[in-house]
Amino acid sequence: MNNLNLGDEIRKLKEEKNAVIMCHYYVEDEVQDIADYIGDSFFLSRKATEIEADVIVLCGVRFMGESAKALNPGKVVLLPAEDADCPMAHMATVEAVEEMRKQYDDLAVVCYVNSTAELKAASDVCVTSANALKIVSRLSNKNIFFIPDQNLAHYIADQLPEKNFIFNDGYCHVHHTITKDAIVKMKEKYPKAEVLVHPECKPEVCAMADYIGSTSGIINYVKDSSNEEFIVVTERGVLYELGLQTTGKKFYTTQMAQVCPNMKKITLEKVYNALKNMEPKVEMPDELIEGARKPMEKMLELAK
Ligand code: 13P
Ligand code: SF4
Repeated sequence: MNNLNLGDEIRKLKEEKNAVIMCHYYVEDEVQDIADYIGDSFFLSRKATEIEADVIVLCGVRFMGESAKALNPGKVVLLPAEDADCPMAHMATVEAVEEMRKQYDDLAVVCYVNSTAELKAASDVCVTSANALKIVSRLSNKNIFFIPDQNLAHYIADQLPEKNFIFNDGYCHVHHTITKDAIVKMKEKYPKAEVLVHPECKPEVCAMADYIGSTSGIINYVKDSSNEEFIVVTERGVLYELGLQTTGKKFYTTQMAQVCPNMKKITLEKVYNALKNMEPKVEMPDELIEGARKPMEKMLELAK
């Protein structure tokens, strides 16, 4: 089947199974095209609590499917690419969390949603890149153990000097490998371009930014900006939505790859197969669902 036919077949199956398709901006363009809902991690989490359909097809990596399932235990959540997993989601341990709880009184364990359900269940509250600053600033705790991403942690810690941050050494390989030098080179080539950076990048890269924010934050910034050129420092999938939402603006990326290989595992064919066969499903024990849901719900509450 070609992509056009696949798109039609997916639409038919969606009706038949009473399903909705949710996509992150980092998936392939043709998959973004069939989304009912597309957004950043925060949007996808919040939206998952409002879905009335029986089935959610989550076009993203595993932690996104797990989050949707934890917030919707009664629904079927399909993850079209079963092996699409975020390496950073595993870059902290429950043992380290337990150890920190012994070492520090007045500790909040803050878990970036880009994490396994087990890590979420061991934490007090989840955050996304769009709401981390707001949520951490609303916590009464002085000590913050922020897992798993060191870069987002540093970005937030710098803005909240009254808190004592304990850092974990996880990182997103897509953002962490982008160098300051790569931005300097692009700036030399396009001096008028504004630099838009995702906070999963290293502090020295964030320091080069005109704007730092989540994928949705970057898109909104571009829409509101009178500038016409932008150096976009996040996964390149976001360029598709930027192109759709704007006219006449120019977008550049660095010479680095800026590609998340796991997000790119989701294809139209896999979405079609998932809906046709109703698998692979996200399955988790009830206890884990319950454990992961609590810090996610706390995030949704504190983000209001
Ligand atoms: P946001 O969706 O919060 O922008 O995060 C990007 C990301 O890395 C998702 O995997
Ligand atoms: Fe994980 Fe980075 Fe890919 Fe997001 S872009 S899913 S954080 S590896």
